[in-house]
Amino acid sequence: MTLWQGRLAGEMAGEVAELSVSVSFDSELAIDDIAGSKAHVRGLAKAGILSDEEASVLLEALGQVGAELASGIFVFLPTDEDVHTAVERRVTELAGDTGAKLHTGRSRNDQVATDLRLWSRRSLLEVAGEVVALQEVLLRRATEAGDAYLPGYTHMQRAQPVLLAHHLLAHGWALARDVDRLVATVERLDVSPLGAGALAGSSLPLDPDFVAEQLGFASRFENSLDAVSDRDFVAEALFDLALLGVHLSRMGEEMVLWSSEEWGFCTLADAYATGSSMLPQKKNPDVAELARGKTGRLVGHLTGMLTTLKGLPLAYNRDLQEDKEPLFDAVAQVRAVLRALAGLYATAEWHQERMQAAADGPTSAAVDLAELLVARGTPFRQAHALVAGLVRESIARHVPLVELVQAHPDLGDAGAQLLEPGVPVSRRTTPGGAGPVAVAEQVERFVRRLDVDRSRLEIHVQTLYASPVPDTAPGAGSAPGGAAAEHAAGHAPPPPRA
Ligand code: ARG
Repeated sequence: MTLWQGRLAGEMAGEVAELSVSVSFDSELAIDDIAGSKAHVRGLAKAGILSDEEASVLLEALGQVGAELASGIFVFLPTDEDVHTAVERRVTELAGDTGAKLHTGRSRNDQVATDLRLWSRRSLLEVAGEVVALQEVLLRRATEAGDAYLPGYTHMQRAQPVLLAHHLLAHGWALARDVDRLVATVERLDVSPLGAGALAGSSLPLDPDFVAEQLGFASRFENSLDAVSDRDFVAEALFDLALLGVHLSRMGEEMVLWSSEEWGFCTLADAYATGSSMLPQKKNPDVAELARGKTGRLVGHLTGMLTTLKGLPLAYNRDLQEDKEPLFDAVAQVRAVLRALAGLYATAEWHQERMQAAADGPTSAAVDLAELLVARGTPFRQAHALVAGLVRESIARHVPLVELVQAHPDLGDAGAQLLEPGVPVSRRTTPGGAGPVAVAEQVERFVRRLDVDRSRLEIHVQTLYASPVPDTAPGAGSAPGGAAAEHAAGHAPPPPRA
């Protein structure tokens, strides 16, 4: 069945169905479609368009469709064009003639926009919760790492030693910005399009504010044309996920390098590694490689979506159907990577002696030598040239740098002491710096930031559970708390881990 059969004669051509039918992927929106429909029914009852009894019948039917979906017995028919058709078809089977009133004053255009915002709100909060879980792993590993250090690199050349904790938390702070972006996107998309109709609103006395409240949206649309054609939130979500993916990719790349024999900075747990079908000795970092590899498609989804949107005239165009698959895929892929990478980081064994040996190279204190000279009154540019000259001489004449430093009248013993293992990193004392004192403070700040982000997420998750208005259709819908509460109860995101 199509919902628009009356206008066109005969059946849809097979090729058209193949091109346009979306139920294979938009069935993902079923629970949101039911929530939106329940709110709409309550709105119709409030407007006097449905009797209380009719509203009850429809709400009960929608409840049953929800139960059938939850228990996996709901059957999508090959003739269901999309999820909206499937739900309305089943409601009509259950509710008889009253089912024919469900779509009053509504279009699939405002309906699908509503569904996708509900889905995005929940899913992005779930992703953010999983980012926090990965941050917690990084924090734990950072705390355990104590004063272990490794080379910090610029241009992939050893530059200055940094604490392992500092390095791990660098990723943690990048992820904190991802959480911030995801939550900001959720806050911005928290607008109900329901009531915009096909594009222009309605002649019926509908109340978009009322249905927005029913669904726990922060507000309703301001402009019906914008409401049905706005997919900014999809593009934003795809950007958030692509950038998060880029961060995960960089982490993955690093673990590929660190677990190689060349680096030898860590050994991956067997559960988070893979073998080779041909080479019996191999232990491969596939999790880290997939973290890196998945990012290509995440970036592709973003550019694809922006390209789909860029030429569209107002208002709804069928092109917009292309918003769902990239978004669903991006969320699924990022979540899979987040979980696996959290496990990888949680279980990797660090080889601190290898890290430290690499960081204790003779030139790791070069800038400390220059800064010693600065402290003694030499302008930095001269100090830099002097130390660079010693490094060059050390290499050219095969003389250990420490001997040249010791022998230099401006450096001597104090200079030589700076070359002792572990000394350079201990001197990175400025706020946000890589040494133990600064990192201890950073850890405290990171813990506080995680607490703040967890509470932010918690508040949003609670909003999904709680309905701001009581159920107003008498006898309709059982759950106190209205459609938003029912909706959230069915699909509660995991509360962010404490
Ligand atoms: N499957 C469609 C989409 O995802 C639903 C809206 C259809 N609207 C329409 N006017 N054909 O965009």
